[in-house]
Amino acid sequence: MAENAPVHQVKPLPFALLGGGISDKTNQIHHNKLYAGYVNKRNEIEAALKTSDKTKANATYSAFGELKRQESFAANGMILHEIFFGILGGDGKPSGRIVDMIAKDFGSFDAWKEDFLACAMTARGWVVLAYDHSDGRLHNYVGDAHNQGGIWGAVPVLNCDVYEHAYFIDFGSDRKAYLEAYFKNIDWKAIDEMAKTTGAVKK
Ligand SMILES: [Fe+2]
Repeated sequence: MAENAPVHQVKPLPFALLGGGISDKTNQIHHNKLYAGYVNKRNEIEAALKTSDKTKANATYSAFGELKRQESFAANGMILHEIFFGILGGDGKPSGRIVDMIAKDFGSFDAWKEDFLACAMTARGWVVLAYDHSDGRLHNYVGDAHNQGGIWGAVPVLNCDVYEHAYFIDFGSDRKAYLEAYFKNIDWKAIDEMAKTTGAVKK
């Protein structure tokens, strides 16, 4: 890496097109403007923190404190979008050990999907299926912002972006139609592989 290259790099979109009505226009804006924006802001914040005055740190207001608060927003904005793009581009057919784990922990795959969809309808930002090391089980967790609702130590398995920017161009306010399209595009093979590398399932 060049000496002055940014620490965090924008990863390319791992698929060409999605089906089910999620348009290329949405994907291009979502990836090239919004996701890339979080990567760039994370770099900017980390660079600013290097010279920020730590002696002025204060719980009400300080430049250092504001940078630290926005650091978690930008970092999670980057990470959650990389997971989101990484688990799409598939045929939507559930397969692999992760699907067996889902069925075991939620009673059945359909019971998990019902809960996940309810979470996706209630969330203002994200729903994340995560393996929680604190109890050794899978959970659907909800976040109203990139840096809210995450459970420390829980490993994301898959997620769904339910911010309006993810669907409004293609589906207007019909979030249910977007979620239907999302499920048609899930890449379960990629999820199973990712779960092995993150330790959510044993290799
Ligand atoms: Fe997004």
